Amino acid sequence: MKILMVCLGNICRSPLAHGILNHLAKKEGLDWTIESAGTGDWHIGQSPDRRSIAVAKKYEVDISQQKAMHFNANLFEIYDHILVMDHQNYKDVVAQASSKEEKEKVSLFLVDDIVPDPYFDESLFEPVYRMIETRCKELLQAWK
Ligand code: 4NP
Repeated sequence: MKILMVCLGNICRSPLAHGILNHLAKKEGLDWTIESAGTGDWHIGQSPDRRSIAVAKKYEVDISQQKAMHFNANLFEIYDHILVMDHQNYKDVVAQASSKEEKEKVSLFLVDDIVPDPYFDESLFEPVYRMIETRCKELLQAWK
């Protein structure tokens, strides 16, 4: 199973989804490939936001070694599922799909809700962590 988590900057939300699902999959002994990327290019090569690193560390998940990657169309060939955090991410990713099959790989991480962007609101990191963790546990059960 190869899963790509996508948000705007690849420093707040998708690194959490990447790190949490990777942590849970490893604990189950699953040989999954989980990565993350951003539709924006501002943070390429950077570590996750210190507030995402801190909230993950609180729950014993280490995301500090991740490096931000820019989403590009080649990634459609690599991943089975591309999970996006909000509707703008969905539009930006699907716009780069070159077939129906590629488009069908893309879905909202939360299915019928969005993960709010915590970048400008410190108080959102904790609830964002919890909603991402809950969904990662569901994904693990569904796909293992
Ligand atoms: P993310 O949050 O998409 O969850 O990584 C953001 C991080 C940075 C910016 C926007 C959103 N930014 O504008 O730099």
